[in-house]
Amino acid sequence: MHSVGIAWLLSHVHLVAAAVTYSIPSSPPSNASPQLDPTPVGVSLEFFTFPGYMENVTSTSRCLENFKDLTGAWPPVRIGGTTQDRATYDAKSSAAVTYSVSNAADAPMTLTFGPRFIDLANSYPGRVIIGFNRRLNNLANTVAAAKLAYQKIKNLEAIELGNEPNFFSNSDPIAGGSWSAAKDRTSQVQWQQAVAANLSASNIISAGVYFGTDNFNIAGLAKAQGSAISTVKNFCSHNYPQWAGTYNLSKLMSHSAIASQVSQFKAEAAAAKAAGKEYIMGETNSATQGGGGISPTLGAGLWIVDYVAQSVLMGMKALYFHQGTIGNCQYCWWGRYSMGNPYYGAYFITMALAQADRIAPLDNMSSNYGGYAIYKDNKPIRVLLLNSDYYETGTRSKQTYTLTGLSSSAVTAKRLTGASATARQDRGSSATVDGQTFEDGTCKKQGTAATEKATVSGGSVTFTLSASEALLVYL
Ligand SMILES: *[C@@H]1O[C@H](CO)[C@@H](O)[C@H](O)[C@H]1NC(C)=O
Ligand SMILES: *[C@@H]1O[C@H](CO)[C@@H](O)[C@H](O)[C@H]1NC(C)=O
Ligand SMILES: *[C@@H]1O[C@H](CO)[C@@H](O)[C@H](O)[C@H]1NC(C)=O
Ligand SMILES: *[C@@H]1O[C@H](CO)[C@@H](O)[C@H](O)[C@H]1NC(C)=O
Repeated sequence: MHSVGIAWLLSHVHLVAAAVTYSIPSSPPSNASPQLDPTPVGVSLEFFTFPGYMENVTSTSRCLENFKDLTGAWPPVRIGGTTQDRATYDAKSSAAVTYSVSNAADAPMTLTFGPRFIDLANSYPGRVIIGFNRRLNNLANTVAAAKLAYQKIKNLEAIELGNEPNFFSNSDPIAGGSWSAAKDRTSQVQWQQAVAANLSASNIISAGVYFGTDNFNIAGLAKAQGSAISTVKNFCSHNYPQWAGTYNLSKLMSHSAIASQVSQFKAEAAAAKAAGKEYIMGETNSATQGGGGISPTLGAGLWIVDYVAQSVLMGMKALYFHQGTIGNCQYCWWGRYSMGNPYYGAYFITMALAQADRIAPLDNMSSNYGGYAIYKDNKPIRVLLLNSDYYETGTRSKQTYTLTGLSSSAVTAKRLTGASATARQDRGSSATVDGQTFEDGTCKKQGTAATEKATVSGGSVTFTLSASEALLVYL
């Protein structure tokens, strides 16, 4: 006994925090989400590099098809970003996209795209949102592109008119000398009406497309829509929780920090709902400006799991995780040569929500430990557990989770884990989902499943999660 000294106790006692117990409601509780979309996890492909992802990156199709294998439907894709507002449609161009950059890591300052760009968008078997230019104030050009998109893209879900207009400047052509939130609202509504009228379409515009929620916001735009609300398919926000200078992986993945992050969008979601429209996060990822190394990690993958869960809980239809310049993109899920560990998080939450109806929180989101019950046909089918304690080096702490109120006699579980929160596949440390990995360069699932089994006793079962892990329990 004496060998366990006070110093040992002080350094080890904190490693197992008080056990967490969740009672699983046998039907969706009042704080459960609305009906879930079948494919809430999608990708946003940066406009200029979209043809490259489709034609030049082998993993693209397999990575997206892996989600389809879980949900039964291809994940939704949004084509857009900063370069949509630098792009001009050229009906006579035979190339999908034309631009030049002095360095392959750069995004072009100006580009054109031809009808083949639209054909490529049509070749994607899932739903497509496509973003066209408003910044350059060439309405006729955007109408021409929108007409072709509407005619050709069979799974077209919506068209964006400008990307993040909150960042337009007074010198941008659309601004006519000065830009403001009020001016943007007037401009959005005018462009919606012109495009929808030329297409003879309604419910076709993805409106807003604002980064964040400052004075350019969905609540304000929804009020200004008037009768043009009939042109709107959905309202769209963008979110990158971390900026250069604030990078902090521990904070990014923290369950309670994600709750405050997502709560910033509650009023936006409510405004969209009040207007009778869907709400989406049309472009999002962990951190702007490359993310200072936090973005390619398992921790960023854990962020995706919880961020998606909390967003759909709030009523968001879908989130589109941005994939930028091929070969120069820290937060990307895959590249030509390597997988990113965030993909494992996206795969894991897609697995958790696949074919389900609703999700409900099991905790009040005030700590690093969280849980969700997932329902189908009004019965709990899965429980998602998160231990968002940050683990980098040293002894890895653990947390036990006891689930009560279960009716089955045995359950199985699949784990999302890795060597540490900072683990990166491109540095030789891949995450695993159910013991399996995704192959660099192809995105093929590899290895044998390592599904865990546990016996339920008296309606209760206990699992242990190490710091920086998630677990999906199948009831
Ligand atoms: C595909 O990659 C090759 C070689 O890097 C490049 O020359 C070509 O332009 C790329 N095509 C697209 C559509 O990005
Ligand atoms: C159709 O688009 C053109 C721009 O090409 C625009 O000037 C016109 O106002 C639009 N039509 C309607 C009915 O809004
Ligand atoms: C990072 O975030 C964690 C959790 O919010 C906090 O405890 C820590 O102090 C932060 N680190 C830095 C360097 O700001
Ligand atoms: C959240 O839950 C914890 C654990 O059950 C509890 O100690 C805490 O008081 C709760 N906080 C709030 C704000 O309800």
